[in-house]
Amino acid sequence: MGNLSGKVALITGASSGIGKATALAMAEQGATVGLLARRQDALESVASQMGGKGLVLVADVTDENAIQENVAQLVSKTGGLDILVAAAGISLKAPFVETTTDTIRRIMEVNYMGTVHVTKAALPHIRERKGSLVAVSSLTGRQATPEYSVYGSSKFALQGLYDALRIEMLREGVHVGVFSPGFVDTPLRYSVLQGNGLVHEKPPVPPLRLWPVETCVKKILELIRKRKKEAMVPGFVRYLFALNDLVLPDWVSDYYLRYKFGYLGRNR
Ligand SMILES: NC(=O)c1ccc[n+]([C@@H]2O[C@H](COP(=O)([O-])OP(=O)(O)OC[C@H]3O[C@@H](n4cnc5c(N)ncnc54)[C@H](OP(=O)(O)O)[C@@H]3O)[C@@H](O)[C@H]2O)c1
Repeated sequence: MGNLSGKVALITGASSGIGKATALAMAEQGATVGLLARRQDALESVASQMGGKGLVLVADVTDENAIQENVAQLVSKTGGLDILVAAAGISLKAPFVETTTDTIRRIMEVNYMGTVHVTKAALPHIRERKGSLVAVSSLTGRQATPEYSVYGSSKFALQGLYDALRIEMLREGVHVGVFSPGFVDTPLRYSVLQGNGLVHEKPPVPPLRLWPVETCVKKILELIRKRKKEAMVPGFVRYLFALNDLVLPDWVSDYYLRYKFGYLGRNR
């Protein structure tokens, strides 16, 4: 049995990718895990790999009442809640001018309001146990990135929310952390939206390295164990951000990203 024995976790986005891999790893370490997403069959398949440690919770994170009910159901079955990992999210890659306001609203509804709903529902229980709240953000929520203006701004909003919540919760002993990965090898690549709200016919080719999901799981578990305020993949990027701010103004944030995303040579 691992070091999460006796703990109860709730993971949104547990039917796929980062949420699913985190749920499996937590169950392996002894936690009981509430698996929340919309696709029941996918959640049941994850639960079937968890030796009775997984509880399937079918809900859409944009539906506040459904989230409240599902969290209440989890707590009534398990007696409490120690950890939230809010990983449910959708992606969009498109220039801002090509993105409709309906699509922008949808991204904010799922990525930002979805996390708000689950955080509101989980917080009273996590407070009782001085547990952990973790939001899965993105490096595009730390560094403005061309064609991720809308997706990135949903993650910047999450970062702001969780950074402030971390300070508000300090005296209560609740840990609040943000996990921000670069591009990760998950099924998300096949559902990235265009500006018109339809999925890209061909998954956009990541302009930077694609990281394995296992690297993310390791970082998320360490973030929780050490009660850190943030973790990133790749880890070295934090030093690039610091250098960018202090020593190399505009180099990483402008020239490098313009080069990688094919914006060099265009009019500024
Ligand atoms: N993969 C990357 O390159 C990458 C990079 C940076 C950050 N991230 C972030 O990491 C998180 C997980 O992404 P992933 O790569 O693991 O993607 P994924 O494999 O596509 O998984 C996304 C998960 O979110 C759930 N979800 C989506 N909309 C939902 C809704 N309205 N209500 C409830 N659940 C919903 C999906 O479940 P259902 O479809 O069953 O509802 C699925 O379980 C996201 O927040 C994403 O923004 C990913």
